Amino acid sequence: MLFDDFEKSKFSDELFKQLTQIIYDRTGLFFNENSKFYLEKRIEIRTASLNINSLEEYLNYLRYDSDADKEWDILISLITTNETYFMREERQLTCFKSDILPEIVKKNGEKKLRIWSAGCSSGEEPYSIAILIKESKMIGDDRIEILATDINSRVLNKAKEGIYSESSFRNVDDTFKAKWFLPYESNKWKIRDEIKNKVTFQKFNLFDTDRYALLGTFDVIFCRNVIIYFDLEAKIKVVERFFDKLIDGGYLLLGHSESLISITEKFKLVHLPNDLVYKKETK
Ligand SMILES: C[S@@+](CC[C@H](N)C(=O)[O-])C[C@H]1O[C@@H](n2cnc3c(N)ncnc32)[C@H](O)[C@@H]1O
Repeated sequence: MLFDDFEKSKFSDELFKQLTQIIYDRTGLFFNENSKFYLEKRIEIRTASLNINSLEEYLNYLRYDSDADKEWDILISLITTNETYFMREERQLTCFKSDILPEIVKKNGEKKLRIWSAGCSSGEEPYSIAILIKESKMIGDDRIEILATDINSRVLNKAKEGIYSESSFRNVDDTFKAKWFLPYESNKWKIRDEIKNKVTFQKFNLFDTDRYALLGTFDVIFCRNVIIYFDLEAKIKVVERFFDKLIDGGYLLLGHSESLISITEKFKLVHLPNDLVYKKETK
């Protein structure tokens, strides 16, 4: 059943404000008036299947129901943008492989290389990173740890499965596919175990401040095409955490349309041969 009151005015301004506020408080995702139609459509479908008849009722469900955590999981899977593909933003990945990796491997000595793909979606990003490290032949498998996290359980399950269709391969050629994937049923491809085993997937909300302490520190943090969905205050909070979680001399790689301008001056923008990237340099 679709909401009667939605048929006329859809979400009232006041309830829409409450909805966007609880989403923001929980996830940092910022929806303004222009996203009203987008959110309405998604929530209408969800509430119809729950037999909930008003947005007010749904808000109470999200706030107080004993199953609220489960419902949040479903809602988040409906409202996050999960667009991704293998070897996205190739120039930056070349920079990672050719400029950053040799520097860190040399500096680390016997120490493990720790990488975090924050907002990894369905896994194309962390698997691309694992492939690049493997191709570089610079470091043994037992000295690499790649943690890949996302708030969305649905995409994480897909990542753990490691089965992809053609659209994930839009930026790579057939040789790449044949080398690192096995043909799977109906035009799909499955990532080879030697790459799959390199990545650990975990559900992690970037605004879950208590859980950062459990992560340890990283040499490189990839957080690409994630903070664009946050407002300035949320961006500042998350980037501050990344700074704390990076070792001195570590790198933060954002998406090409993202920058730290007006977010923080703590990172240094460094010009490496293949790209411009952010580095933590306190000494
Ligand atoms: C557009 S995808 C980017 C995927 C990949 N990093 C790339 O560049 O191809 C953005 C991802 O950020 C995740 N995300 C959004 N808000 C988040 C939050 N608060 N905590 C963790 N992940 C979040 C979404 O679920 C989504 O999978």
